[in-house]
Amino acid sequence: MRKKTDFLIIGTGIAGLTYALKVAPYGKVCIVTKGEAVESATRYAQGGIAAVMYTPDSYEKHIRDTMIAGDNLSDPEIVRITITESTERIQELIEWGVAFDKDRSGKYDLAKEGGHSEFRVLHHKDQTGAEIENVLLQRVRENKNIEIFENHFAIDLITQHHLDGEVGPGSDEEIVCYGAYVLNKANHQILTLLAKTTMVATGGAGNVYATTTNPPVATGDGIAMVCRAKGKIENMEFIQFHPTSLFNPAETPSFLITEALRGSGAVLKTRTGKEFMQKYDSRLSLAPRDIVARAIDNELKISGDEFVCLDARHLDKKVILNHFPAIYAKCLSIGIDMTKEMIPVVPAAHYTCGGIAVDRHAKTTIRNLYASGECSSTGLHGANRLASNSLLESLVFSHRAAFDAVKTMQNSKFKNGVPDWNAEGTVFNEEMILITQSLKELQGIMTNYVGIVRSNLRLKRASDRLEIIQKETEELYQKSVLTEKICELRNLISVAGLIIQMATNRKESRGLHHSIDYPGHYGE
Ligand code: FAD
Ligand code: SIN
Repeated sequence: MRKKTDFLIIGTGIAGLTYALKVAPYGKVCIVTKGEAVESATRYAQGGIAAVMYTPDSYEKHIRDTMIAGDNLSDPEIVRITITESTERIQELIEWGVAFDKDRSGKYDLAKEGGHSEFRVLHHKDQTGAEIENVLLQRVRENKNIEIFENHFAIDLITQHHLDGEVGPGSDEEIVCYGAYVLNKANHQILTLLAKTTMVATGGAGNVYATTTNPPVATGDGIAMVCRAKGKIENMEFIQFHPTSLFNPAETPSFLITEALRGSGAVLKTRTGKEFMQKYDSRLSLAPRDIVARAIDNELKISGDEFVCLDARHLDKKVILNHFPAIYAKCLSIGIDMTKEMIPVVPAAHYTCGGIAVDRHAKTTIRNLYASGECSSTGLHGANRLASNSLLESLVFSHRAAFDAVKTMQNSKFKNGVPDWNAEGTVFNEEMILITQSLKELQGIMTNYVGIVRSNLRLKRASDRLEIIQKETEELYQKSVLTEKICELRNLISVAGLIIQMATNRKESRGLHHSIDYPGHYGE
C-alpha cells in the first residue's frame, strides 16, 4: 500500500504534536505513531517546563544555569535562542488550553529543580506531561488536515539508498529523504509513505538500560533510522540518569520522584538517615543531576545498600497533597506514607542528551528531514541537561522547524520510482524468546559497563559483547518477517553502539560522561 502526504511526522509526543498543529494550515499532515497516540515520554513528565515568567528571574539567569548544568558544552547561541523564545512558546501552550497551576494571587506557581537559581518551572501538579499531551492530542484530533495512524511503526526512512544504491561518505551526492516505510502492526503490511518533508519526533532511548524512567516506546528508533540513512548523530555519550526514581525492583519502567520535590525542600539521606550531599556539592540535594546521580552511585558503592532515601517528612502535608498527589498516591500504593516515612530512591536512565544533529531550524544533515524533541541534538543540553529544559526545547524547535518546513514543502515534489518494501525470502520468526533474551543481555551490558561511572576497560568489554549480539540480531532481522520487537532490538543495538563509540572517543570527564581513566576536562 502507498500513501502521499505533504508533511510526514513520526511520533506523537510534545515535539510531533506541536509541529503538526503548526504545519497543518499549509498542507496535508500524516502522523504515524507506534502505539496509542497518547503513549510517549511526554505523557509521564512530572516536574514541568522551565521558562522565565517573572522578576527576579531573567533570561540571563536561565541562560547561565543552562550553560553551567551543561558543563560548558552547550552551544551558547542555541541556549540563547531557546530561552529567549520560552515565554512566547509557553503563552501558546496556554492559549491551546494547557492549565498550569497558579497561586492564590493568580500568578503561575513556579517550582524549583536542581541546577536552577530561581523558581521557574511551570507545572500542572506532578502530572504536567499528561496535561500537555491530552490538550495537544485534542487539538490535533480536531484538525481536519491532520490524520493520525496509531499502531504504525516507522521502520526506515526512504532515501536514494532505496532507489539507486549507496550514498554517503566519499560521495558528494546530498542525501534526500522521500518519506518512510511504515509497518501496520494490525495486518503486518508495510506501507510506503511518500512525503515532501519528514519530521522525526520519536523521543529518547532509555530502554537501552535495564533501569529507566522511560516508557517502553523509548527505543531510540529515530536515532537509529537517521544513523542508517547516514545522517549525523552526535553527543550520544551524554545519557542522563535521574537521581531519584522510586526503588521498587519489580516495576518497569521505574516510577519517577520529581526533582521538584527536592525543590520544595525534600532532602537526600542514606538509609540510616544521614545527609551526604555536603560531601559532593555546595548546592546539596539541588545540585545538577549529573553530580547528584554520581554522588548517590558513590554512596551506594560505599554502603553496599540498594537505595538511598528522600526525606520529605518535614514538608507541609498540604503542599504534598496539593503539588505532589500522584507521588503521594504511588508511594502509598506500595506501603510508604511519604509524610511519615522516607522514600527509597535510586538513579535510573532518564534522558538522551545527544541524538540527531540539527541546526537552529531543526534541519538534520539529510535534505527534507527534520528532527525535534528528545531524539534530536540541538546543542542546548551540552554535557548534561538542566531539569525541565526538555519540554521547552521541543516547543521551541518544533516551532522553528515548522516555519522552515512549510517553505521546504512548497518547493518539493514527491519522488517517483520509490519501490515497495522488499520482504522476499523472510519467514515468521517462531523464536520470539531470542529477541527478549538479546534485549536483556543488551540492557545488562549497558547497565554494567556504560553506566554512571565508566572506564576504558568497561567500554571495551561493552563493545566486544555488543558485537556478538549485533551479529546475531542482524542475521535474524535479515530472514524474519518484520515485527516491532525485532526492529526495536536492532535500533537499541545501534543506539548502544553509538553511546559506546562516542563514550570511548571522549577522553575526559565532562557532565554526564565520567571516566575513571580521564578524571578532568580536556587540557586539565
Ligand atoms: P516522546 O514524548 O517520547 O514521543 C515520542 C513518540 O514517538 C511516541 O509517540 C512514540 O510512540 C513515537 N515513536 C517512537 N518510535 C517510533 C517509531 N519507530 N514509529 C512510530 N512512532 C514512534 N522533561 C521536562 O522538560 N520536564 C519534566 O518534568 C520531565 N519529566 C519527565 C518525567 C519522566 C518520567 C520522563 C520519562 C521524562 C521526563 N522529561 C521531562 C523528559 C521529557 O518528558 C521528554 O524528553 C519529552 O517529553 C520528549 O518528547 P518527544 O516528543 O521528543 O518524545
Ligand atoms: C522531574 O520532574 O524531576 C523530571 C524533570 C526533567 O526530566 O526535566
